[in-house]
Amino acid sequence: MVAESETGDLAACGALLPLWTDSAEIVSLAVDPRFHGAGIGKGLVRELLERARRLGFQEVITLTYAVEFFSKLGFAIQSKDQFPRKLWRECLECPQLEDCDETAMSFQVCP
Ligand SMILES: CC(C)(COP(=O)(O)OP(=O)(O)OC[C@H]1O[C@@H](n2cnc3c(N)ncnc32)[C@H](O)[C@@H]1OP(=O)(O)O)[C@@H](O)C(=O)NCCC(=O)NCCS
Repeated sequence: MVAESETGDLAACGALLPLWTDSAEIVSLAVDPRFHGAGIGKGLVRELLERARRLGFQEVITLTYAVEFFSKLGFAIQSKDQFPRKLWRECLECPQLEDCDETAMSFQVCP
Protein backbone atom coordinates (compact mmCIF):
# COMPACT_ATOMS: atom_id res chain seq x y z
CA MET A 1 0.00 0.00 0.00
CA VAL A 2 1.22 3.50 -0.75
CA ALA A 3 0.12 6.99 0.27
CA GLU A 4 0.38 9.92 -2.13
CA SER A 5 0.61 13.59 -1.33
CA GLU A 6 -1.86 16.04 -2.85
CA THR A 7 0.71 16.71 -5.59
CA GLY A 8 1.12 13.02 -6.38
CA ASP A 9 4.45 12.49 -4.59
CA LEU A 10 5.00 9.14 -2.91
CA ALA A 11 4.56 9.94 0.80
CA ALA A 12 4.65 6.49 2.42
CA CYS A 13 4.52 2.76 1.87
CA GLY A 14 3.84 -0.40 3.82
CA ALA A 15 2.86 -4.00 3.13
CA LEU A 16 1.13 -6.97 4.70
CA LEU A 17 3.13 -10.17 4.16
CA PRO A 18 1.37 -13.46 4.90
CA LEU A 19 3.49 -15.70 7.16
CA TRP A 20 1.00 -18.57 7.50
CA THR A 21 -2.73 -19.10 7.20
CA ASP A 22 -3.37 -17.37 10.52
CA SER A 23 -0.64 -14.75 10.72
CA ALA A 24 0.86 -11.94 8.69
CA GLU A 25 3.64 -9.41 9.11
CA ILE A 26 3.72 -5.66 8.50
CA VAL A 27 6.87 -4.99 6.46
CA SER A 28 8.53 -2.10 4.66
CA LEU A 29 6.63 0.58 6.57
CA ALA A 30 8.19 3.96 5.86
CA VAL A 31 6.93 7.53 5.72
CA ASP A 32 8.91 10.15 3.80
CA PRO A 33 10.46 12.41 6.50
CA ARG A 34 8.74 15.43 4.87
CA PHE A 35 5.44 13.90 5.99
CA HIS A 36 6.35 12.59 9.44
CA GLY A 37 3.93 13.36 12.26
CA ALA A 38 0.91 13.88 10.00
CA GLY A 39 -0.82 10.61 10.90
CA ILE A 40 0.07 8.85 7.64
CA GLY A 41 1.96 5.98 9.31
CA LYS A 42 -0.92 5.42 11.71
CA GLY A 43 -3.39 5.47 8.83
CA LEU A 44 -1.39 2.95 6.81
CA VAL A 45 -1.06 0.54 9.75
CA ARG A 46 -4.77 0.78 10.55
CA GLU A 47 -5.64 0.02 6.92
CA LEU A 48 -3.20 -2.92 6.85
CA LEU A 49 -4.81 -4.28 10.04
CA GLU A 50 -8.24 -3.91 8.46
CA ARG A 51 -7.01 -5.85 5.43
CA ALA A 52 -5.63 -8.52 7.76
CA ARG A 53 -9.03 -8.78 9.43
CA ARG A 54 -10.84 -9.07 6.09
CA LEU A 55 -8.39 -11.77 4.93
CA GLY A 56 -8.96 -13.78 8.12
CA PHE A 57 -5.54 -13.40 9.77
CA GLN A 58 -5.73 -13.69 13.56
CA GLU A 59 -2.36 -12.17 14.37
CA VAL A 60 -0.24 -9.44 12.78
CA ILE A 61 3.40 -9.15 13.81
CA THR A 62 6.18 -6.70 13.15
CA LEU A 63 9.88 -6.43 13.91
CA THR A 64 10.60 -2.78 14.47
CA TYR A 65 12.64 0.06 15.95
CA ALA A 66 9.46 2.18 16.33
CA VAL A 67 8.15 0.48 19.48
CA GLU A 68 6.23 3.47 20.85
CA PHE A 69 4.57 4.09 17.49
CA PHE A 70 3.28 0.49 17.29
CA SER A 71 2.36 0.44 21.01
CA LYS A 72 0.01 3.35 20.41
CA LEU A 73 -1.68 1.27 17.72
CA GLY A 74 -2.30 -1.64 20.12
CA PHE A 75 0.75 -3.80 19.40
CA ALA A 76 2.38 -5.61 22.36
CA ILE A 77 6.03 -6.53 22.76
CA GLN A 78 6.74 -10.26 22.39
CA SER A 79 9.72 -12.55 22.50
CA LYS A 80 11.06 -13.27 19.00
CA ASP A 81 10.86 -16.96 19.90
CA GLN A 82 7.08 -16.59 19.66
CA PHE A 83 7.41 -16.24 15.87
CA PRO A 84 9.17 -19.39 14.64
CA ARG A 85 7.83 -19.02 11.10
CA LYS A 86 9.45 -15.61 10.78
CA LEU A 87 12.68 -16.89 12.35
CA TRP A 88 12.93 -19.92 10.10
CA ARG A 89 11.95 -18.11 6.93
CA GLU A 90 14.03 -14.96 7.07
CA CYS A 91 15.96 -14.39 10.28
CA LEU A 92 18.24 -17.40 9.83
CA GLU A 93 19.71 -15.80 6.70
CA CYS A 94 20.19 -12.41 8.35
CA PRO A 95 23.76 -11.43 9.35
CA GLN A 96 22.23 -9.70 12.40
CA LEU A 97 20.67 -12.94 13.66
CA GLU A 98 22.64 -13.09 16.92
CA ASP A 99 22.65 -9.32 17.41
CA CYS A 100 19.15 -8.40 16.23
CA ASP A 101 18.22 -5.07 17.79
CA GLU A 102 14.68 -4.92 16.44
CA THR A 103 11.75 -5.49 18.79
CA ALA A 104 9.14 -8.12 17.99
CA MET A 105 5.55 -6.97 18.48
CA SER A 106 2.15 -8.45 17.75
CA PHE A 107 -1.47 -7.38 17.36
CA GLN A 108 -4.43 -9.70 17.91
CA VAL A 109 -7.00 -9.13 15.18
CA CYS A 110 -10.67 -9.10 16.19
CA PRO A 111 -12.70 -11.33 13.86
C1 LIG B 1 7.65 5.22 12.34
C2 LIG B 1 6.95 5.97 11.21
C3 LIG B 1 6.37 4.94 10.21
C4 LIG B 1 5.82 6.81 11.81
O1 LIG B 1 5.08 7.42 10.75
P1 LIG B 1 4.38 8.87 10.95
O2 LIG B 1 3.45 9.07 9.82
O3 LIG B 1 5.41 9.90 11.18
O4 LIG B 1 3.59 8.62 12.31
P2 LIG B 1 2.14 9.21 12.71
O5 LIG B 1 2.11 10.66 12.38
O6 LIG B 1 1.08 8.37 12.11
O7 LIG B 1 2.17 9.03 14.29
C5 LIG B 1 1.24 8.26 15.00
C6 LIG B 1 1.57 8.37 16.49
O8 LIG B 1 2.84 7.74 16.74
C7 LIG B 1 3.77 8.68 17.29
N1 LIG B 1 5.06 8.41 16.66
C8 LIG B 1 5.37 8.50 15.37
N2 LIG B 1 6.64 8.13 15.15
C9 LIG B 1 7.15 7.79 16.36
C10 LIG B 1 8.41 7.32 16.80
N3 LIG B 1 9.42 7.10 15.93
N4 LIG B 1 8.58 7.09 18.10
C11 LIG B 1 7.56 7.29 18.98
N5 LIG B 1 6.34 7.74 18.62
C12 LIG B 1 6.13 7.98 17.33
C13 LIG B 1 3.22 10.05 16.94
O9 LIG B 1 3.63 11.02 17.87
C14 LIG B 1 1.73 9.80 16.96
O10 LIG B 1 1.26 9.85 18.31
P3 LIG B 1 -0.24 10.38 18.63
O11 LIG B 1 -1.20 9.46 17.89
O12 LIG B 1 -0.33 10.25 20.13
O13 LIG B 1 -0.30 11.78 18.13
C15 LIG B 1 7.93 6.94 10.50
O14 LIG B 1 8.54 7.77 11.47
C16 LIG B 1 9.02 6.26 9.67
O15 LIG B 1 8.83 6.01 8.48
N6 LIG B 1 10.18 6.01 10.30
C17 LIG B 1 11.31 5.40 9.60
C18 LIG B 1 11.06 3.95 9.24
C19 LIG B 1 10.54 3.14 10.40
O16 LIG B 1 10.98 3.26 11.53
N7 LIG B 1 9.55 2.27 10.08
C20 LIG B 1 8.87 1.46 11.09
C21 LIG B 1 8.99 0.01 10.80
S1 LIG B 1 10.62 -0.61 11.24
